[in-house]
Amino acid sequence: MPTPHKYDFLVIGSGSAGLTYALKVADHGSVAVITKKNKSEANTRYAQGGIASVLGQKDSFKEHIEDTLKAGAGLCKKEAVELIVREGPRMIEELLEYGAQFTTDNGELDLTREGGHSHNRIVHAADMTGEEVERVLVEQVTKHENIDIFEHHFAVDLITEHHLSHYVSRYDDIHCFGAYILDIETGQVERVLSRTTLLATGGAGQVYQHTTNPSIATGDGIAMAYRAKARIANMEFIQFHPTSLYHSEADSFLISEAVRGHGGKLVNGDGERFMEQYDERGELAPRDVVARAIDDQLKKRGEESVYLDITHLDEQKIKEEFPLIYKTCLQYGIDITSDPIPVVPAAHYICGGVMTDLHGQTSIYGLFACGEVANTGVHGANRLASNSLLEALVFADRSAKKAKDYVNDVSIKEGIPEWDESGTANPEEWVLISHNKRELQQIMWDYVGIVRSDLRLSRAQRRLRLLFEEVEDFYQRTKVSVPLCELRNLVGVGDLIIHSAMQRRESRGLHYTTDYTDTIDSAQRDTII
Ligand code: FAD
Ligand code: SIN
Repeated sequence: MPTPHKYDFLVIGSGSAGLTYALKVADHGSVAVITKKNKSEANTRYAQGGIASVLGQKDSFKEHIEDTLKAGAGLCKKEAVELIVREGPRMIEELLEYGAQFTTDNGELDLTREGGHSHNRIVHAADMTGEEVERVLVEQVTKHENIDIFEHHFAVDLITEHHLSHYVSRYDDIHCFGAYILDIETGQVERVLSRTTLLATGGAGQVYQHTTNPSIATGDGIAMAYRAKARIANMEFIQFHPTSLYHSEADSFLISEAVRGHGGKLVNGDGERFMEQYDERGELAPRDVVARAIDDQLKKRGEESVYLDITHLDEQKIKEEFPLIYKTCLQYGIDITSDPIPVVPAAHYICGGVMTDLHGQTSIYGLFACGEVANTGVHGANRLASNSLLEALVFADRSAKKAKDYVNDVSIKEGIPEWDESGTANPEEWVLISHNKRELQQIMWDYVGIVRSDLRLSRAQRRLRLLFEEVEDFYQRTKVSVPLCELRNLVGVGDLIIHSAMQRRESRGLHYTTDYTDTIDSAQRDTII
C-alpha cells in the first residue's frame, strides 16, 4: 500500500490566499501546496484593477469601512470589514518587501478609483495587478525550503471521519485530516495527510456561460467542503462584472472598472449615455447597479452590447494606464483610443462560500478557508471593487496565525484508508461531461443570472436535479478525472446557488428578483446551508 504524504500544513490552491498563507506558516512546519494547473494559474493572476487600501492623505479607514458596508447592503460583518481595511496598508507594505512593482506617480504609489469608493485608493500595477502579486508570491514560495509545491495535482475530496466510517452525531464534531489528491499525470489518487488544511481554491465563475474567470474557477473548494458537511453561506450573491469585452472570440475578457474610474462613459447603440437614469453616481455606481442597468438597456433596446467609450481621454495615457486592455482589444480589431469598446456583463465573483470566523476557521476542526472560496462576512450581499485581493491577503495572514497554534495540539491521523476505486472503469462517454457542463452553464446564465424570479429559479432547480442525478451516477461508475470532478463540483455549486436564491424572498445587493423587488428589514440575515 503506497505510503501517504504527511505534512503539518496542507494548502489547496496557489492563488494570493494560498501562497500568502503558505509563506506565513512555513517557518513553523512542513507545507504542501497542491494546485491543479501550474503554480501561477489562478484567478489572482488575472486581476486588473488592483488592491483597495487607505494610503491617500485625504482618505480614512472610516470611509473605506463605510463604502464597504454600503456596498454590502446590510449583510457585511462589521468586525471583518474593519479588519481588512485596517490591515490593508501592512499587506501592501509586505508585497512591496517581496519585490512587487506597483505603479507610482512622482515616487508615491499611484492610487486609482473604482465604483463605490469615495476616494482614490486602489493600488495597482498598471492593469496587470494580479500578475504582479502572483509573480512575487510564487517567487517567495518557490524559494522556501519547507514548502513543497505539487503542480498538476487535483484535490478530489477532504478526508474526515466519514472516510473512517466513524459515526459523527453532530455536524460540529467533524475533523479534517487532509485530502485525497489526484496526480493528474499518473492518474493515481494519493492521500495527503496533515495536521491542518487550508482551502484556498478560489471562485466558481465557470458555473455560468459567460464569465471573466479562467477555467480553474470551478467551485471545487466549496463543493468539497459542502460534501464534508461544512457550513456554507450566502451563495445567492454572485457578482456580475458590468464590462466584459463583447466579441465572439474574446472569452469575456475583462475591461477593468478602473477604465470607468478614469472617466470612461457607458453609451447605448445610439451613443447615448444612460447611467444617470439609473443612479446619480452614473458610471461609478456599484457594480450590481451598473450590471442591472446594462441588462435593462440590452433587453429594452434588443441590442447585443452597450459600449464603454474612452476615446475622449489622452491616447498616451490610455496606453500607459491600460496596456493589457489596449493590446488585447487591438487583437480583436478594436483600437480603444478611437473606438468605443463593446461590453456586456459576465459572472465575476462569488461573495458566498465556506463560512469562517475572523480567523479563517470553518465549522470543521482543522479546516481553514480564505480567499474567494470563503465567506468571511467581509462582502455581505455585494463586494466592493478591489476588496477581494485585500480580503485574501488579510485572512490568509489571520488564518496562518491561528493554524500555527492549532498544529501544536493535534497529530497526524493514522489509519486513513486508500482511495477506493472499486467498481469504477475508464469513461466511455466523454461527450456526456462536456455536454452536461454546457447545459449547466446555459441554465445558470438564463435562469439564475442578473435578474431572477421564482419561476426561473424553480425551472433551473428541476433541470439541475436531473443533471445532478446523471453526473452522480456517472461519477460512481467511473475512474476519477479532472473534467468529471469539476463537472460534479460545478453542478453541486449551481444547486447551492439556486437553493440559496430561493431562500431569499427579497431583493438585496447582488440578488435581484422580480417577485420581491424590495429589500426587507426582517430578511437582513445570512443564508446558511
Ligand atoms: P485564486 O487566485 O483563484 O486561486 C485558486 C487556486 O486554487 C488556483 O491555483 C487553482 O488552480 C487552485 N485550485 C482550485 N481548485 C483546486 C483543486 N480542486 N485542486 C487543486 N487546486 C485547485 N479582485 C480584486 O481585489 N481586484 C481586482 O482588480 C480584481 N480583478 C479581477 C479580474 C479578473 C479577470 C478576475 C477573474 C478576478 C478579479 N478579482 C479582483 C477577483 C480576485 O482576483 C479573486 O477573488 C482572488 O484572486 C481570489 O484569490 P484566491 O487565492 O482566493 O483564488
Ligand atoms: C476590475 O478591475 O474591474 C476588477 C476589480 C475587482 O474585481 O475587484
